[in-house]
Amino acid sequence: MTRLKDLLAARYSCRAYQARPVEEALLREILSEACGAPSGGNVQAWSVVAMTGPFLEEFGRFARNEAVRHPELSSASDLFYPDDLPDPYRARRREAGYNLYHALGIDRRDYDARKEQMLKNFQFFGAPVGLIVHTDARMVRNQWLDIGAFVQSVCLLAADAGLATCIRGVWTQFRRPDDPVKAMIGLGNDRRVACGMALGYPDAKHPVNIFRTARTPIDEYATFLSERPD
Ligand SMILES: Cc1cc2nc3c(=O)[nH]c(=O)nc-3n(C[C@H](O)[C@H](O)[C@H](O)COP(=O)(O)O)c2cc1C
Repeated sequence: MTRLKDLLAARYSCRAYQARPVEEALLREILSEACGAPSGGNVQAWSVVAMTGPFLEEFGRFARNEAVRHPELSSASDLFYPDDLPDPYRARRREAGYNLYHALGIDRRDYDARKEQMLKNFQFFGAPVGLIVHTDARMVRNQWLDIGAFVQSVCLLAADAGLATCIRGVWTQFRRPDDPVKAMIGLGNDRRVACGMALGYPDAKHPVNIFRTARTPIDEYATFLSERPD
C-alpha cells in the first residue's frame, strides 16, 4: 500500500485520459471506501451518480450543448469565486490558468481556444468514468465541508489504484429550476450538484498532464501559537 503522503504528492488534476475502461468492481470499491470520510453528526450528505459507456457519452454531449446554449450559466460568480477575488488568491488563480493554457499551447488571448478547452469539462476530458457528486438542497455549510472530505477521499483512493481524477466545479452551474442536465441523471430541484469528477487511467504523456501547480509555503497559511496568551 502506498503511503498517504506519497498519494497526496501523486494526485493532480488530470485533464487527458486513456480510453481504457475502469472495472466496475474497482469503481465500486473506491466509492464505498471514500465514505470513510468524516461528516458532522455523521450525516454523510454526499451522493454520487457514476456514469460510464454510452450513457456517459450521451450525457456529456447533452451537457456540453446546454453549456453552449446557455453561456450565462457560467457567469454566476457566487458559484465559483467571490466577485473581485483579492490577492494573493487572484494571483494564484491566474498562475494556474496560465500554466494550463501554456501546457496546451493556447495563447491567453485566444478566447475561442480557451472556450473550447473549457467545454471539454462537460465531456469529462474523455475520461471513461464521469461522477456527479450531489447533495440534498437543504444542506448548509458544514455538509459542504463534509462533501469536500469525501471528494478528496475519492481522489486519493483512485490515486492508490493507479487512476487519476479531476474535480470539476463547472457542473454546479446546472442549478436552474427543472434543469434538464440534472433531470437526465434523475436529479430534481431537491438536489444540488456539488461538483463533477472525471476518473480514469491517465494519459500521462499528454502535455496537459505534465505541468504541476505550485503550493504556498506553510508559514503563509499556518500560524503556530504556544505561549500563554496575554
Ligand atoms: C472545487 C473544485 C473545483 C474545480 N473545478 C475545476 C474545473 O471546473 N475544471 C478544471 O479543469 N479543474 C477544476 N479544478 C481543479 C483545480 O484547478 C486544481 O485542483 C488546482 O489548480 C490545483 O491543481 P492540482 O489539482 O493539479 O493539484 C477544481 C478543483 C476543485 C477543488
